[in-house]
Amino acid sequence: MTENETLDRLPHSLPNDPMHWADAWLKEATAANFRANPNSMTIASVGPDDQPSARVVLCKKLVPDPGYLVFYTNYRSRKALELARNPKAAALFHWDALGRQIRIEGLVVRSPESESDEYFASRDWGSQLGAWGSDQSEPVPSKDALVRQIRERGAALGLSLSDGTQSLTDENIPPIARPAHWGGFRLWANAIELWISGADRIHDRGRWTRDIMRTSGDKFTTTPWVGSRLQP
Ligand SMILES: Cc1cc2nc3c(=O)[nH]c(=O)nc-3n(C[C@H](O)[C@H](O)[C@H](O)COP(=O)(O)O)c2cc1C
Repeated sequence: MTENETLDRLPHSLPNDPMHWADAWLKEATAANFRANPNSMTIASVGPDDQPSARVVLCKKLVPDPGYLVFYTNYRSRKALELARNPKAAALFHWDALGRQIRIEGLVVRSPESESDEYFASRDWGSQLGAWGSDQSEPVPSKDALVRQIRERGAALGLSLSDGTQSLTDENIPPIARPAHWGGFRLWANAIELWISGADRIHDRGRWTRDIMRTSGDKFTTTPWVGSRLQP
């Protein structure tokens, strides 16, 4: 995007870098600090019976070139199992206070292990313990049973947890390694829509598509974005 462009309307001639617009919007939403988790997004996946399912996760990175988003989760969770079977996903950001929505569609691949390791190491110990302690998306008989499970797994990691789980101080926390069943996913965009609220419901909508071709395990090449304006 050029310096003269305002983020509040799509120029007559649609830009050819929509992921840079998405990046700028996410940065603006984060800086505006108008709500908790401005980087939250809804991720939709499709189950074995073609049933879509959706949940909120945090977008931990948006890389406009070559164009993917990163989120972290449990690789045995419902979403991860669905994405392993069908890697097509959709992501949705909505910032009501800014009158903006972003829709992204594409293919999901696991993040490189080194990226997941680095992010896991940056998390607070409670979140690290949670990755070990919770079998995300599995049933559990009670909250007490869940807390017991987390405490037992914490003990196995060398943590001595007293009453709650939040009893450790900074000095006595042994390093916690990333479990193999927890890490990042990259959503490589092959479609993106930027939506800007307009007066009298004359909203701005631009949708761009491109081809993404897998060159090796988690690498893609892409064709340029081709955009068109949509009726609201
Ligand atoms: C604001 C917010 C942020 C969340 N962030 C994450 C996240 O980054 N990763 C994650 O696995 N779950 C996150 N969750 C929980 C998910 O919405 C969901 O409950 C969980 O991932 C299990 O989903 P699944 O059973 O469909 O796999 C978040 C929930 C909320 C409300």
